[in-house]
Amino acid sequence: TGIVAIIPAAGIGERMNAEIPKQYLKIGERTVLGLTLERFLNYEPVEIIVLVTSPSDTHYDNLRDIENEKIVVIDGGEERADSVSNAISFLYDSGLPDDTPVLIHDAARPCVTSTDIEKLCNHFRNTNKACFLAAPVVDTIHQVDEDATVNGFIDRRNVVRALTPQLAKFIELKNSLEEAKAKKLSVTDEVSALKHAGHSVDAVIGRPDNIKITTPEDLRLAAFFLDNQ
Ligand code: C5P
Repeated sequence: TGIVAIIPAAGIGERMNAEIPKQYLKIGERTVLGLTLERFLNYEPVEIIVLVTSPSDTHYDNLRDIENEKIVVIDGGEERADSVSNAISFLYDSGLPDDTPVLIHDAARPCVTSTDIEKLCNHFRNTNKACFLAAPVVDTIHQVDEDATVNGFIDRRNVVRALTPQLAKFIELKNSLEEAKAKKLSVTDEVSALKHAGHSVDAVIGRPDNIKITTPEDLRLAAFFLDNQ
């Protein structure tokens, strides 16, 4: 079966302090979004890309540096979760079969490699379990309370950083995200929703340079990583 990719790109990138949302900023000649889309277009098993942009977005049409018949553009919502949820509804209305593998990848992560995308998809194919790209934690991690007093111990060997893509069967993703919404759980990624709904999820260790562009420094870092991959 083919894989469907959802790329949430409807954020405004407040922390970037730029005129235009971070997914449209340039790294060299290319936009962040264009670079991200290219990674998925280069991985053949991805048959449909649902690109979620903001309804008030005036940039996509002007700044797009990639056009491809696999890409469908739909409107996003207020939060990332709303944007993902719009994509899920769109796919449901299009009659997507329940067991289709669906992955979600932040537009703001242009350094993901096609090799890591393949590694994740192969893991899913071999195990039939939801999974996501993750990176080990290199610093010591401490749990603190509201006034920043250390109040718990976390062994860093038992912690990973959640990156994207995150991948699951369409129906599992749909049900888990709906359940998280109904219960008003504050989940900031799909893995949290899947886990809350009782699904087992595997962390697949990927490259730590798969950063999420958030601040202006991240743009320079991403340019460096892309040049050295
Ligand atoms: O803001 P943050 O860095 O968490 O955004 C992660 C991804 O989610 C970005 O690619 C951003 O464009 C997207 N997003 C979205 N809809 C929103 C907010 C963020 O698609 N309302």
